[in-house]
Amino acid sequence: MIKIDSVSKRFGDFYAVNNVSLDIEKGEFLGLLGPNGAGKTTLIKMFIGLLKPTTGIIYIDNKKMSRNNMEVKKKIGIVPQHTNLDKELTVYENLIFAAKLFKIKDYKKRIEDIISFMELEGYKHKKSMNLSGGTQRRVMIAKALIHNPEIIFLDEPTVGIDLNGRRKIWDILKTMQTMGKTILLTTHYIEEADYLCNQVCLINEGKIFKKSTPKILKEELGIYTLEYFDKEMKTKYLYFKDKDSGENYVRGIENISYTIRKTTLEDVFYNFTNRKVE
Ligand SMILES: Nc1ncnc2c1ncn2[C@@H]1O[C@H](COP(=O)(O)OP(=O)(O)OP(=O)(O)O)[C@@H](O)[C@H]1O
Ligand SMILES: [Mg+2]
Repeated sequence: MIKIDSVSKRFGDFYAVNNVSLDIEKGEFLGLLGPNGAGKTTLIKMFIGLLKPTTGIIYIDNKKMSRNNMEVKKKIGIVPQHTNLDKELTVYENLIFAAKLFKIKDYKKRIEDIISFMELEGYKHKKSMNLSGGTQRRVMIAKALIHNPEIIFLDEPTVGIDLNGRRKIWDILKTMQTMGKTILLTTHYIEEADYLCNQVCLINEGKIFKKSTPKILKEELGIYTLEYFDKEMKTKYLYFKDKDSGENYVRGIENISYTIRKTTLEDVFYNFTNRKVE
């Protein structure tokens, strides 16, 4: 569904995205995980044709992506990192604007449907600027879905949103997945990717580490983590394929303070981002 081949983006001498290749299948829910400045937004902006790669090519549905490729743009919905709502307009007016952009014929019905799907009935005639962060984000998702796209890009859709708001957005994303949509989401909430995504991809300093399922990434590291304090009272982590191997390791070490627990996707990520300093 989406293929990017050796894509880089350079700003001056700095590579924000560095030689990234990736295949995303139809119906996949991919989480792009990375810390601040990793290159997530830059990569998304290239996917959606907002930024031109310095090198490399992006294909969406076998068509080359570019700024003016309207045929491809109709297939994608975008929820950007920062708000794209007109704050002075109501929810309904914002959606009318989006629907007209895509020349949706029966737009009134479509807007009603999307408002109900996103549970926005109570906010229809409220100005966007008076809505909570979580509700604004749901309006942004409604706007992205107005033309019923096959592929949805979401750049940190739950950042700064409380638990209830986040759960609501998670439910909507899960439903979209069951509808067969292809979804790419960036986040630095690792548990979000672990919960939602069937594939995750770790990105740091513009480079992609690996795309795999959360389960496989944890298995490859070792499904049990031994967490202990070293002599300088620094926390250290070691990974084992079973609990006994971890227990065997600490046996005989005097006065060691430790816990053995299940490895999380956060451990995988920590191991990946801290590799160079080890
Ligand atoms: N237009 C630009 N000019 C120069 N540098 C840029 C530009 N856009 C992004 N960068 C740099 O590229 C790097 C990657 O930025 P990007 O916004 O893609 O990161 P991100 O992973 O989305 O981070 P965050 O989690 O903070 O949103 C950063 O170091 C950023 O400062
Ligand atoms: Mg970003």
